[in-house]
Amino acid sequence: MAFELDTYKQEAAAVNVDDIDFDDFRRQPLSPAALRCLHYMADVETHTVCYLRDLLVTPSHQNPRITTFLTMWNYEEFWHGDVIDRILAMHAEEAGLIRHRKVRLKQGIKNVVSPITQCLTAAVVGDDFIATHMSWGAVNEWSAHAAYARLIAVEDHPTLTKILRRIQHQETRHLAFYYSEAKERLERSKKAQNITRWALAKLWAPVGSTIAPKYETRFMLNHLFNSDGGPKTIFMLDQKVDKLPGLAGLDLVSKALTKYGIRLPRFDPAVA
Ligand SMILES: [Fe+2]
Ligand SMILES: [Fe+2]
Repeated sequence: MAFELDTYKQEAAAVNVDDIDFDDFRRQPLSPAALRCLHYMADVETHTVCYLRDLLVTPSHQNPRITTFLTMWNYEEFWHGDVIDRILAMHAEEAGLIRHRKVRLKQGIKNVVSPITQCLTAAVVGDDFIATHMSWGAVNEWSAHAAYARLIAVEDHPTLTKILRRIQHQETRHLAFYYSEAKERLERSKKAQNITRWALAKLWAPVGSTIAPKYETRFMLNHLFNSDGGPKTIFMLDQKVDKLPGLAGLDLVSKALTKYGIRLPRFDPAVA
């Protein structure tokens, strides 16, 4: 079923936290490990506008359906970061504009040249780049949703759970758009399948890993996925990617964890 863009554009909104008592975090603070993960997540969410900058120099910007979605997507992701910043601030952690600026400045020359390299690469690939962009977006939304699910499970904090479930609800809609666009574009072009398969296998890395120090990415992946339901979550993420046309057998997410030195116990669906 096609994604209902008109409905989404009317309903896109800041995640609603009007009824949340943030003082709950003073009464029952989060663990240091959870705060570290939330820093990682806030940095990713608030960096969305920079990811958007790099995407608007590609053929995706010529497609008004995609730019309509990206406008709303960027708005909602902004508020995800803002809400997580509020949680961090309740713990006297660095958050907000000063932190966002620091993260951007730390990117250095990479941040300056990325729109140029992205523009040139996409121009060479042409319209099939959009299929790769949409597939990449789907994988990142799946990953973000899974990371929030694991943080909910690992931390088991009622107020955090309430907030993250609302963020997850919006991530699910982002995923629905990326997934439907990716599937349709991959189905109609073998070339798009080949380019996307190559790009994901060679270039994809866990969302946020391009802006965070390597040790922070490793910490977050290990804390969230190397326990209890973590291996099952990774297995399921790989299966979801496999179901996109032309992407079977990539083992994308589990291979990415291995690159960070994280070896999960093998998940066997037959005995789960
Ligand atoms: Fe988000
Ligand atoms: Fe999202």
